[in-house]
Amino acid sequence: MKKKKILLVGGTRPNFMKVSPVYEALKKHRRFQPVLVHTGQHYDAEMSKVFFDDLKLPKPDIHLGVGSGTHAVQTGKIMERFEKVCIKDVPDLVIVVGDVNSTIACALVAAKICIPVAHVEAGLRSFDRTMPEEINRLLTDQISDYLFTTCPDADKNLLREGISRKKLFFVGNTMIDSLKRHLTAARATRSWQKLGLDNTNYGVMTLHRPSNVDNIAVLQRVMGAVSQVSQNLPIVFPVHPRTAKQYGNIHKHVFDSVQKKGILMVEPLGYLEFLGLMQNASLVLTDSGGIQEESTILGIPCLTLRNNTERPITIKQGTNILVGNDPEQIIKGAMRQLKKGKRRKRIPKYWDGKAAVRIAKILHSTFEHKR
Ligand code: UD1
Repeated sequence: MKKKKILLVGGTRPNFMKVSPVYEALKKHRRFQPVLVHTGQHYDAEMSKVFFDDLKLPKPDIHLGVGSGTHAVQTGKIMERFEKVCIKDVPDLVIVVGDVNSTIACALVAAKICIPVAHVEAGLRSFDRTMPEEINRLLTDQISDYLFTTCPDADKNLLREGISRKKLFFVGNTMIDSLKRHLTAARATRSWQKLGLDNTNYGVMTLHRPSNVDNIAVLQRVMGAVSQVSQNLPIVFPVHPRTAKQYGNIHKHVFDSVQKKGILMVEPLGYLEFLGLMQNASLVLTDSGGIQEESTILGIPCLTLRNNTERPITIKQGTNILVGNDPEQIIKGAMRQLKKGKRRKRIPKYWDGKAAVRIAKILHSTFEHKR
């Protein structure tokens, strides 16, 4: 019997850990032929290749090599190149993950030429349309045929937006599939030790949202608050390329002085090294989406430097609190979280390492049904 060809798309750092378990589950399945497509939205070795190595993902079958650009340029380039791929060798399904420009670009291409689309991590909403990711999420969900969700909130959001219940599948969290699979290897990296840290007393920070880093005055205020926190707790800060771009602009004012305090700025870390670092941390400060989920599973107190989150389950059931980017709130929030300490919280339903297998089963049974 001919295998169903499925194009599985990734483009940015946080996509790869969502793609990896799905790729594995499809590859093992006798009915599927997964084809790995990398759009090239992220291209630096430490934003891309190291994740393929750490996650043991094979080299992409197709690389679109789009690189950076404005939203329209990047999205347009991905669409143009991905359409050629889809027309040349028509797949049975396109799977997109997350909420980045690569997600909406490839979903839109497939939907327009009537290739079914599956969206992994559908239905998350921050209700903040100033975030490019919110626009990507809303639009991708509207044109997808299979909406794989990580939590019941997401199902509710989708139903409210008029999406048919028949398209919704609550399967759990593929990012947590990757976390569970790689935790032991991550621990073995002893990345805290390589950075000269005491394994019981440090924090980790990541910062890359346009709302926090694109405006220098905002970034300086945030860094000022974090440097105060770092006087009591050394903080490792792997700097994302978007944030590093600002380095030249505020180098003398902020980055030099914070380094003298307790902030250790390093290049972006690989998946295993970062996970290894986060596992032992006393506090995580972030504006990322995935880290809010990972810290919930690890029981590490998380301070999200945003006013909203599309992942409210990490607050209700996990270790997360929102503090925005106001310096006073950041400092108060950090103290509050440190006082509470590490804790095991409720693990959200289906964040159990088996989400990708559920996805493969659902796809199999619906394909069989349609024969
Ligand atoms: C993108 C996603 C964001 C995700 C983040 C994770 C969108 C709209 N945003 O944001 O949701 O949380 O990835 O990292 O899709 N750059 C490099 N090397 C790289 C990649 C980027 O130097 O490998 C630099 C470029 O200067 C680029 C800038 O970083 O202009 C931003 O990259 P881009 O892909 O546009 O968005 P991110 O901020 O990474």
